[in-house]
Amino acid sequence: MDLKDLYQDIIVDHNRSPRNFRRIDHATRMAQGYNPLCGDKLVIYITLADGVIEDVSFQGEGCAISTASASLMTEMLKGKTEAEAAALFDNMHQLLTEDNHGVDVAELGKLAALEGVRAYPTRVKCATLCWHTLQAALEEADEPVTTE
Ligand code: FES
Repeated sequence: MDLKDLYQDIIVDHNRSPRNFRRIDHATRMAQGYNPLCGDKLVIYITLADGVIEDVSFQGEGCAISTASASLMTEMLKGKTEAEAAALFDNMHQLLTEDNHGVDVAELGKLAALEGVRAYPTRVKCATLCWHTLQAALEEADEPVTTE
């Protein structure tokens, strides 16, 4: 199996069985994201304690890419500080939008599976939707965030 197949398998797996696909009843942070290109929406819930993400989850409806991206994101964020989560957002944004990004892909673990999305400009917003929503949740934005 080559790397491309493996990455494909990760995306298929996380779309079929999304991790942390649930509501957190007493979340300390929450934000809604919206992709106006397709109308898909998702909500991110976070339980933050002393600046550390103790729990994070999502709900909503989206395509395979947006669901897999959100699932992988929640898996990766648990135990991270707010600053580490913000740094991860920056890295993922670069990875998904810049051909000459300076991101060390090896450090991203399974999130590296999303790198191939960059070659499909119409799908990039599917992958970044959850990340923009995460950023809004961490910044305690009042308005729903969009990918535009
Ligand atoms: Fe809507 Fe991908 S088509 S998020």
